Amino acid sequence: MKIIQDPLEFQAACAASPELGLVPTMGALHAGHMALVAASRQRDAATAVSIFVNPTQFGPQEDFARYPRTLEKDSALLREAGVDLVFAPPAAAMYPDGAAAFVTVEGLSDRLCGASRPGHFRGVATVVLKLFELARPRRAYFGQKDAAQCAVLRRMVRDFFLPIEMVVCPIVREPDGVAMSSRNLLLSPQERQAARALSRGLRRLGDAYAAGERDTAALLALGRAEIAAEPGLRLDYFSAVNGDSLLPLPTALPNTLFAVAAFAGQTRLIDNAHCDSGGNFQM
Ligand code: PAJ
Repeated sequence: MKIIQDPLEFQAACAASPELGLVPTMGALHAGHMALVAASRQRDAATAVSIFVNPTQFGPQEDFARYPRTLEKDSALLREAGVDLVFAPPAAAMYPDGAAAFVTVEGLSDRLCGASRPGHFRGVATVVLKLFELARPRRAYFGQKDAAQCAVLRRMVRDFFLPIEMVVCPIVREPDGVAMSSRNLLLSPQERQAARALSRGLRRLGDAYAAGERDTAALLALGRAEIAAEPGLRLDYFSAVNGDSLLPLPTALPNTLFAVAAFAGQTRLIDNAHCDSGGNFQM
């Protein structure tokens, strides 16, 4: 396994692998990330993983400085998983001279997390386009955990005619239902306990959906009640939207996304569930 820091060296190494799978990450790797790596290892002739805590997707008051960085442990995990290339550049290499070019997916970028984190999805789209241009992968792997991010990036790929297949993998959860996240490392034991209310809210909503409820206001009220009952959480949003447009839906249909974001102390957590194309509830 090669670990590369220089963008152009990474580009040259990727050019030698025509059937490449790319897994973009910010590191502090867990089983959710490793599921994406495994999916690529299964399908692609070679797998590249990027580890880059991207400054442009964090707001000035956000957790860029305290975001966990565990490069040595990450490298060992990736080596064990059979990854071919790891790209871990310094910020100045990805944003030379501060950088002038940015990508905005209009509309979508202002919805869900984009509404409470202005500029977040612009930073995500910008860095992912840079990674795509460096790696030129045949496929790129993303997690349903960040469903709005997937919608923004799908739209970017479509609008720019990028010859990349976007593969979205299911959410990997802890045994108690909490979605795996690098940010879980930042939680105190009490906050970690409180975090369970997000998936509990989605589960309650899913049970009502399975019993036939389709009115999203009624479904969301059940989810919000779980968050409200947990004093350790502060709700940001609990929404039902179309999984592609991210626009609110009054009725739950196939491709409806139920997305929640809440703060546990300083740490912002997200989770979601969705109705698949057959109308089955998935979380
Ligand atoms: P990061 O939060 O490190 O996540 C990297 C990838 O892992 C994303 O596609 C994310 O959806 C996926 N992932 C995280 N937790 C998961 C879980 N519990 N189950 C399944 N997949 C999970 O998302 C980012 O980094 C960044 O925004 C990035 C795309 C790398 C751009 O900087």
